Amino acid sequence: MMFSEKLIKEMNVQIRHELYSAYLYLSMASHFDAQNLKGFGHWMKVQAKEEMEHGMKFYEYLNSRGAKVNLEAIEQPPLEFGTLVEIFEMVLGHEKSVTDRINLLYSIAVEDKDYASQSFLNWFVDEQVEEEEHAGEILETLKKVGDKGTALFMLDRSLGGRAE
Ligand code: FEO
Repeated sequence: MMFSEKLIKEMNVQIRHELYSAYLYLSMASHFDAQNLKGFGHWMKVQAKEEMEHGMKFYEYLNSRGAKVNLEAIEQPPLEFGTLVEIFEMVLGHEKSVTDRINLLYSIAVEDKDYASQSFLNWFVDEQVEEEEHAGEILETLKKVGDKGTALFMLDRSLGGRAE
């Protein structure tokens, strides 16, 4: 089955996007840890780890189809962040941009009639629905509770319980 140069190139680019996502969330984790918002920090570290795993899924898939992985430079993530609401708006916006990337890869695989890649990418299509849903839920909660108070403390505790 055909594995096109175009799709190989875009999957390599995707590794960079996934690793950048890990870097972005780790930078957010560091921001929260520095403010002693340990639950938020934990949630972001788990998120960063998942993004590394996403990158590795592309790495292993490229290998399994006999294509070479070429790692690109990862850009510097922001070091300073705004309010909690702004941070989770950034997370949601970022995940939407990743969804667009997955859709782009999928459309190439459809164009190529590359059924193996479509099957591989199905996992990411489902994952992106979850990613957007989780970020959206936290954002909605934050909009309700604001940046202060007992509700925020409770939310921090609950995010701290996210399984690795
Ligand atoms: Fe790997 Fe959050 O997308």
